[in-house]
Amino acid sequence: MTAQIINGKEIAEKKRLEIAKEVERLKELGVTPGLAVILVGNNHASRTYVNNKEKACKELGMNSLLIEMQEEVSEEELLAKINELNENPEIHGILVQLPLPKHIEEKKVIESISPSKDVDGFHPINIGRMMTGQDAFLPCTPYGIMVLLEETGISVAGKHVVVVGRSNIVGKPVGQLFLNQDATVTYCHSKTKDLRFHTNQADILIAAVGIPNFIKEEHVKDGAVIIDVGINRNENGKLCGDVAFDEVVEKAGFITPVPKGVGPMTITMLMYNTAKSAAWSLDRN
Ligand code: GUN
Repeated sequence: MTAQIINGKEIAEKKRLEIAKEVERLKELGVTPGLAVILVGNNHASRTYVNNKEKACKELGMNSLLIEMQEEVSEEELLAKINELNENPEIHGILVQLPLPKHIEEKKVIESISPSKDVDGFHPINIGRMMTGQDAFLPCTPYGIMVLLEETGISVAGKHVVVVGRSNIVGKPVGQLFLNQDATVTYCHSKTKDLRFHTNQADILIAAVGIPNFIKEEHVKDGAVIIDVGINRNENGKLCGDVAFDEVVEKAGFITPVPKGVGPMTITMLMYNTAKSAAWSLDRN
């Protein structure tokens, strides 16, 4: 079997058209969704991500505010800026690009963002709401994965989902979203014994480990759905995922490529969350 490629770029474009329409509607009601992005220091990858977020805002007709802070900025100064944005009615989403410099406590920063503007879905209140199936901002990459499957017509209820990786940003929350949709979920990680045994049970396999070509043909059941969250560089500097695409594509039923798979969905869902926050702000007034 050769897998069907899940075209994340195409699905992201379709979703962005829907979001642009929602932005139009909100503008007619007098609200322009606004996203503030805080970038601390000069991490090259972070700067690229932040630039892409700004570009996406502009394309969808949203306001974006980029706040750049020096690597040496104090935690107090950063928290004061977040507080100011929490109070600003023109800002509906606040995102602090991670990672932060070592002298700043990430947990404190995340918890200082108002849960009603936490469009990353990282605040413990939003995580708790997500876990209990309440309305919440869902973290963007996990949410994007669920939308990819929905748009591809892949059902989730009753499926065995195996998540490889347990980060707070992707692994843990994506497993929870699958559980919320009645999947049976197994988490695997660096201490898992006999990884292959587990991954071979997967109807849907999520690779979120950050190691190039980690998931090989031997890890995959015939016809499985393979979602590759990795964004790595191989030894030649070429972008690659966590899945050995060329061998796995011959065995899987569906597979996301890298690039143009999960990646384009992350920013799309950030835009979705920002528009949703702006809509909620109308309901509150
Ligand atoms: N760094 C890498 N991914 C992310 C993300 O989704 N949100 C934030 N804030 N920082 C990140």
